[in-house]
Amino acid sequence: MNHDIERVLIPEGEILAGVERLAREITEFYRGSEFTVVSVLKGSCIFASDLIRRIPIPLELAFAAAHSYGARTEAGELSIDLLPTGNEVRGRRILLVDDILDTGQTLKRLKDELLASGAGEVRTCVFLDKPSRRALEFEADLRAFEVDNLFVVGYGLDYAGRYRNLPYVGVLRDAAIS
Ligand code: XMP
Repeated sequence: MNHDIERVLIPEGEILAGVERLAREITEFYRGSEFTVVSVLKGSCIFASDLIRRIPIPLELAFAAAHSYGARTEAGELSIDLLPTGNEVRGRRILLVDDILDTGQTLKRLKDELLASGAGEVRTCVFLDKPSRRALEFEADLRAFEVDNLFVVGYGLDYAGRYRNLPYVGVLRDAAIS
């Protein structure tokens, strides 16, 4: 698998330092109030699990999932596959956690859906942010790293379902892209 990686963009140690920094900010922000982390599957599962284990205050965990039709390089039509139940959301403070903020359509749509389901507040936290790709007016409240317009894999991010288990973020070799 490592042979398919052209270069490491964010090594494991830097990732964990970034996650630690976000966890401290989140802890201070929510200290003294109940909140729910909504992890967007599948990509954010590794980021969310590292993040919540560094937040030493009470929280609940729920999941959402969405996928986009069409080419990876465009904002294709979005379909929501999973949302937390009304009971998990109603009146709650929500922290929506995703792997990467790209065009913005996934997080914007999920945030709108959670608010429509009665969430009291929805803030967003992303592992990676690619601001150069934004197609909608949408910014995350928190982000660990900004990346250029490159297709990246690892630490939860996949290409054709693979590479999520790499402990670092890397750029794929052209030869690995079919
Ligand atoms: P949007 O465009 O809705 O995109 O903000 C969010 C989703 O797009 C996928 N995505 C990537 N996946 N490497 C990946 O493995 C990338 O560089 C990349 N850029 C976007 C991802 O599924 C994300 O949740």
